[in-house]
Amino acid sequence: MTQNLAGTARPTAAVATPAGAGRGWWRDAVIYQVYPRSFADANGDGMGDLPGVRSRLPYLRDLGVDAVWLSPFYASPQADAGYDVADYRAVDPMFGTLLDADALIRDAHELGLRIIVDLVPNHSSDQHEWFQRALREGPGSPLRERYHFRPGKGEQGELPPNDWESIFGGPAWTRTTDPDGTPGDWYLHLFAPEQPDFNWDSPAVADEFRSILRFWLDMGVDGFRIDVAHGLVKAPGLPDLGTGDQLKLLGSDVMPFFDQDGVHQIYRAWRRILDEYPGQRIAVAEAWTPTVERTAHYVRPDELHQAFNFQYLGTYWDAAELRTVIDSSLAAMRPVGAPATWVLSNHDVTRHVTRFANPPGQGTQMRSPGDRELGLRRARAATLLMLALPGSAYVYQGEELGLPEVTDLPDEVRQDPSFFRASGQDGFRDGCRVPIPWSGTAAPYGFGPHEGGPSWLPQPAEWAGLSVAAQSGDPASTLELYRSALRIRRELSALGAGDELEWLPAPAGVLAFRRGSLVCLVNTTGEPVAHPTEGRLLLGSGPVEPGLLAPDSTSWWAV
Ligand code: NOJ
Repeated sequence: MTQNLAGTARPTAAVATPAGAGRGWWRDAVIYQVYPRSFADANGDGMGDLPGVRSRLPYLRDLGVDAVWLSPFYASPQADAGYDVADYRAVDPMFGTLLDADALIRDAHELGLRIIVDLVPNHSSDQHEWFQRALREGPGSPLRERYHFRPGKGEQGELPPNDWESIFGGPAWTRTTDPDGTPGDWYLHLFAPEQPDFNWDSPAVADEFRSILRFWLDMGVDGFRIDVAHGLVKAPGLPDLGTGDQLKLLGSDVMPFFDQDGVHQIYRAWRRILDEYPGQRIAVAEAWTPTVERTAHYVRPDELHQAFNFQYLGTYWDAAELRTVIDSSLAAMRPVGAPATWVLSNHDVTRHVTRFANPPGQGTQMRSPGDRELGLRRARAATLLMLALPGSAYVYQGEELGLPEVTDLPDEVRQDPSFFRASGQDGFRDGCRVPIPWSGTAAPYGFGPHEGGPSWLPQPAEWAGLSVAAQSGDPASTLELYRSALRIRRELSALGAGDELEWLPAPAGVLAFRRGSLVCLVNTTGEPVAHPTEGRLLLGSGPVEPGLLAPDSTSWWAV
């Protein structure tokens, strides 16, 4: 199934290396997440694709980001929107071809943008050749060693081998049928049944992933986002947890299937491969761990480069809580010398405009639109706070347009697998995956080439007013706020650098800090707060009056 590029040789990484390579470009990079299904649809079939992404690269360059992370575009039956990979070296026809990926990487480099691709090493698709052969060949097949096949418990093996629960709901095990038609062993899947977990004790699995890394590094990618980086190694013997409702424990306890110390050996081997390549290739861990201190283990100097800061993402719009998580994030990364990262949204959580439009304490998935104006005001302020912090920041496509979550998608259009499995994650992830609006007054708002053409999820009518075209040139728009903030961040190169931040005295509900020649003032309360402002105003998330911080606002001052 592996696609080959037309012509004889695979392209090499002989493409222009973007600027900033000398000083660890990733330490303060702003990285933009593209969700390929929903970014831009070049062929008009309603599904975004790589040629679509390629056509919009100049937009991303002009926005002012440093790198683009693409969620998976590999050959996949799409049981989990591409996080179920059937062939790690092929592009799914719905997204294009390997040639399209090659052209995208080259164009990005010419524009000075880096490309990070998603790597999904915890599990494959059940349609992956290895898993299919393991099923076909039955018990005793050496291919079964590459996954976790186990006999069931109970007299007839009718009970799952242990009590682990799937993140998407239900048991983490599915029973197979042997080639002779009788019920057989069970296999482990921490996510959907269509996503069998690899057995990382198998040398064949480790070899294969080192080879996959090289394949994409040879294609010229600048890095990888490692999906479920905390899940690859399971505790020996796959011990029972002894309790139900396991999802609730994820954030607080070390589980026998997550954050096991053995994962670090894998990342040390990967780091050696990344370091063999020129141009500072990086890896960022999607590692859900109980504490920022444990997250720091993934970014020790001989492991990965960055890890997502989910503790930050999960923090509400509250000055005291924000200050605590900022301090603890910086403190946790300092001993390992890795940059802190900051993120407000991604393809798995309710967009932060909507999170901040709702009262606190509801987690990161919600169905209520809340107070949209309040949410947008806070989201804009949260962006200026995030972009003033030392380290690297992640921007999820559409947040620069101030897009809210689509909370009223009809159930029949939903595709999130966890929506269909009882008692798993809430399963409302489709609401942040709606194709983004580029232009025009009728759906798909420039997402696809034809007015009135399809989009795989319906877009709300009011998105006409939120399109890139509608916001461009309007100084009050969220898009122009992002453009200005990113331009200033580039000009003041000290802004993202280092790991120090000087807190200034501030009343309750207000954050004030200094980074070099910039002072950032954040009012998280719903009331105006009198506070001394000094220097020259660089940028404000809302109206700014000297000496007075507007409700739910952030301002940047040159001092
Ligand atoms: C994390 C990804 O971000 C999410 O979308 C996916 O469902 C799971 N990992 C499983 O791959």
